[in-house]
Amino acid sequence: MSKFLQLAAQQRRRAAAQHAPRAIAQDAAAGVRVDQPHSIQHEVEEEVLDDHILLSCSGVKKTYKKGKHVVPVLRGVDLDVPAEQFTAIIGQSGSGKSTLLHLLATLDRPDAGEIYLEDRRIDTLGSKGKELLRNSYYGMIFQFYHLLPELTALENVLIPKMISDTAMNYFWNRRKYMERAKHLMHQVGLSHRLRHKPNQLSGGEMQRTAIARALISNPRILLADEPMGNLDEETGAGILDILRSLNEQHHLTIVMVTHDQEVARTADQTVVLTQGRVERV
Ligand SMILES: Nc1ncnc2c1ncn2[C@@H]1O[C@H](COP(=O)(O)OP(=O)(O)OP(=O)(O)O)[C@@H](O)[C@H]1O
Ligand SMILES: [Mg+2]
Repeated sequence: MSKFLQLAAQQRRRAAAQHAPRAIAQDAAAGVRVDQPHSIQHEVEEEVLDDHILLSCSGVKKTYKKGKHVVPVLRGVDLDVPAEQFTAIIGQSGSGKSTLLHLLATLDRPDAGEIYLEDRRIDTLGSKGKELLRNSYYGMIFQFYHLLPELTALENVLIPKMISDTAMNYFWNRRKYMERAKHLMHQVGLSHRLRHKPNQLSGGEMQRTAIARALISNPRILLADEPMGNLDEETGAGILDILRSLNEQHHLTIVMVTHDQEVARTADQTVVLTQGRVERV
């Protein structure tokens, strides 16, 4: 079995194991003695250790070259993303936040440094491995939505499945996928906009469609690049509520680039990108 088929199988096992009682895990994490039969305690400890850091990078560097201009953007970024937490990345415009998110998502390759998903190095994977990784682990929300204009909102939500499945597999599973896509559109409050094209949707509706699309494959980690950036305050607050509830109630790990100080203040961890490096605040 290839490394990434193994990874996908492991993800399915993890999804099944997610029913383990969270309170017990938290007690164990806090060092509280938990009176459990040995095997259960052992499993819980293993899960806590195992789940501690989901995504990490060390010494990551990225320089862009445009003609004679060399722009060193990331100069050695070290970052740990704890599982099930909400991590906010802040920093001035042009500081490299989107660049870092793209590298974490394996959409681009660092010039130096290493990126890990749990204990597996991912920046050196080939294109097939990266694709499989993105389809099975990541959900992504981009700064400018990236919806396909010729497809309806519902079809846009289904795109990751259309891309990742074989034609035959998609055909056999199409009803199941359609039900899930409709359910997600309902969750983001867009049941009444399924057949609208992106140019018939408002900015907030496009962003909510992009959130539904990011969730269609049951990701373990959501990478979001300023998801409220182009929205008015009230609509942005609605988007944030959706993301917070995904994190708090569904234990989705979230890494969000934001300029919103309130989000940064209330995140589990906030890091600031400055001078090409990351600092915790
Ligand atoms: N493909 C590219 N080629 C050349 N320079 C680039 C490229 N992509 C980004 N840059 C430069 O790298 C720097 C960081 O860009 P990036 O998009 O990561 O910033 P950001 O922190 O996300 O900014 P913003 O808050 O405005 O979205 C910028 O100075 C930008 O001009
Ligand atoms: Mg950006």
